[in-house]
Amino acid sequence: MRLLLLNAGPIAHLSSGNPNLPLVGEEMSDFSSLIYESGKGLFIDEGEIVKISDSKSMEDEFSNLKNVKKIDCKQKAIIPGFVDSHTHLLWSGDRSNEMSLRQSGFSYKEIANRGGGINQTVNSTRKATKKELIELGNSRLRRALNFGTTTMECKSGYGLDTESELKILETMNLISKESPVKLHSTWLGAHDIPTNLTKDEYIEELLSEQIPAIVEQNVAKWVDVFCEPGWFSVEDTETIVNEAKRMGLEPRLHVDEFEDGEGLRLAAELEAISADHVAYSSDEARQYASDSGTMQTFLPGTPYVLGKKLDLPLRKCIDNKWPISLATDFNPNCRTISIPFIGSLATHRMGMSPLEALCCVTRNPATTLFSKGDSHVSGSIRIGGPADILILNSKYVDSWCQMPGDNPVEKIISKGKLYNHI
Ligand code: NIG
Ligand code: FE
Repeated sequence: MRLLLLNAGPIAHLSSGNPNLPLVGEEMSDFSSLIYESGKGLFIDEGEIVKISDSKSMEDEFSNLKNVKKIDCKQKAIIPGFVDSHTHLLWSGDRSNEMSLRQSGFSYKEIANRGGGINQTVNSTRKATKKELIELGNSRLRRALNFGTTTMECKSGYGLDTESELKILETMNLISKESPVKLHSTWLGAHDIPTNLTKDEYIEELLSEQIPAIVEQNVAKWVDVFCEPGWFSVEDTETIVNEAKRMGLEPRLHVDEFEDGEGLRLAAELEAISADHVAYSSDEARQYASDSGTMQTFLPGTPYVLGKKLDLPLRKCIDNKWPISLATDFNPNCRTISIPFIGSLATHRMGMSPLEALCCVTRNPATTLFSKGDSHVSGSIRIGGPADILILNSKYVDSWCQMPGDNPVEKIISKGKLYNHI
């Protein structure tokens, strides 16, 4: 499909410098190098942005070509498709009952110890057929696309045995073939300890069975571990990640979600591309991560649903030029798949500007998913780049995160194809 976008409003292209590198510090709020003024047009062919220039000249040049669909943007703002770099897309079941348990005073760990939490979702996900998981996955992806997500990282982790972890990752790969959203798979076998094994027995299974099977079937690019006191220690994490790395998987890790367990420091030592949650990490570890090229990905949806303070140190990271991203952490406990909602938490509650937050859900997370030399890295709008673009329903770029619970997206172009917001 060839698309000609005319009469665009401001375009937050975010393509300054090298788009394969994250934006940090003041770069994230530099309007003049991140936003084109209104009045441009874009031509898209075979999923790629071919030209960006003033609307009138674009109309003269391209509107008479064959098979071109013209879109009058009516001066609405344009931004890159969102890159959600941390989701648990595929699982079955329902844990809505946990809210009232929390309100009766039980913590996340106590609910898990009483048979709720991750292991409860493992029970239902093990029982689900591939067909059921495909339906669940497709319906979630439709909602994510509707909210503007065009690239998504998806973790396994609700199987916790070789067969079920493979089932989840194989299903993800099946879905990925037809999906309008670009999917990137991560193996998270070390998400929790299954109820029938001790931790040592399970780690042995991860090393001797799961890693070889995942690598043999080629169903994931990354390894993730829930590195947190009470789940997998830094020593456990190091053992699992080193073996997975030896077999060819790259680490991106859950760390320091509930307390500072030195997880971020370990992630940086293990050269993880991203360390996620990082709610309680120390400033020293944050500096070390930045020096080591490890992205800090904050997941504000989780403290939000757990009723915790929304005081993630986003401003401090920007002031120190530490690279940061934001993602949904969509999972059975945190059931938002909406990046605009995450943007609302970051801007309405944690002092980020809408443009800074936009960098954190587009270009920055994309640098953790695509290889360094990949010319098709998403997250910015540039000639030769992928046509993953959102037309908002406002003339202001900032509107992307200013409608909590509602949808700021009017039209979505993903993999070069046009979708109207439903
Ligand atoms: O990232 N904390 C570990 N994993 C998920 C939650 C999993 C669950 O509660 O089912 C997270 O928040
Ligand atoms: Fe998570």
